[in-house]
Amino acid sequence: MKILNFGSLNLDFTYTVPHFVQPGETLSADKLQTFPGGKGLNQSIALSRAGAEVFHAGCIGPDGEMLRRQLMDAGADVRFVKTLPDARTGHAIIQVDAAGQNCILLYGGANRMVDSGLIGEVLSHFGPGDWLLLQNEISGMEEILRTAGEKGMRIALNPSPITADIPHFPLDNVEYFLVNEVEGAALGGKGSPEQMLEGLKRRFPRAKIVLTLGKEGACYFDGEQTFFQPIFPVKAVDTTAAGDTFTGYFLTAIGEGLSGQEALKLASAASAIAVSRMGASSSIPSREETGRFLAAAKTR
Ligand code: RIB
Repeated sequence: MKILNFGSLNLDFTYTVPHFVQPGETLSADKLQTFPGGKGLNQSIALSRAGAEVFHAGCIGPDGEMLRRQLMDAGADVRFVKTLPDARTGHAIIQVDAAGQNCILLYGGANRMVDSGLIGEVLSHFGPGDWLLLQNEISGMEEILRTAGEKGMRIALNPSPITADIPHFPLDNVEYFLVNEVEGAALGGKGSPEQMLEGLKRRFPRAKIVLTLGKEGACYFDGEQTFFQPIFPVKAVDTTAAGDTFTGYFLTAIGEGLSGQEALKLASAASAIAVSRMGASSSIPSREETGRFLAAAKTR
C-alpha cells in the first residue's frame, strides 16, 4: 500500500506530573523527556512500521531535523518534508499523569505554514487511486482535501484535533473517517455511539467509518456491516499516540485487503502496546511485535 500522509511534525516535551496542573497552581514535574511527535509524524511511523509504503509531506524549521531523521529511520519517504529557514518547528507540551492520561498544549509553528505552493507541488506527484491521509494539525486542509478529491485520490481523514471549521471542509470525497467520540459528535451529532454512527452514516453516505471509544473499544462500519473490537487490557503508562498508532495500523491492514474485523484487531493490539510505554512515535510497535502480542493474547 502506497500512501501520502500530509501532516504535522512536532517536538513533544513530555512532563511526568503527579496530576495535571490546575488554574493558578505552580507544579513541579517529576521528569521531562523530548520525543518525536505530531499526529502526522506519528501516523506515518505507524503506517511504516505496520508495513505500508508512506510518503510524509509537511513543514519543519531548522530545529526539527531530528524529526526528518526519525521518519527516515522508520522507513518513510521524506522527500516532501520541507525545512523553512525562518520557522520554528511545531511543538507540544504534554503532561502525563500517574494514570498515564495526558493533556496537550500545541504550538503549530511550521505546521501552520503549509501553503498552496507546497500543496500543489506535492499533490502533482499523486493521482487517481493513490491514498491520502490527513489529520488536522496543518494549514491548507481545505485546499488539500479539495485538490486530492478532484484528482480522484482515496482520502482517509482523522479530524484530530477537532476544530469548528472542519464540518465546513469539502468532506464528500472522504472515503474513510477515523474519529473518536468528540470528533464523531462534531461531525455526526451527539448521542450514544450507535446514534453517532447513524448520524455519520446519514451525513456521509458513501464513507466508511471507524469510531474509537477509548476503554470501550472501537467499531467500524464498512458501508454494509458494523464490526466491534474490545480493547486489549494493558497497564497504561502513556496514552499519547495511541490513536495515531490505531489509525496507521488500521489503514495498512485495510490496504492489504484484511477484513474489517482483522483490521480492527490488529490496530487495537498495536495501540495497546503503544499505551503501555512512554512517548509518542517512540511507543509505536513494529508489525512483528504486534503479531507476537496477538499470538500471546490468544493463549491468555
Ligand atoms: O496524538 C499525539 C500527538 O498530538 C502528540 O505527538 C503531539 O505532538 C500532538 O500533536
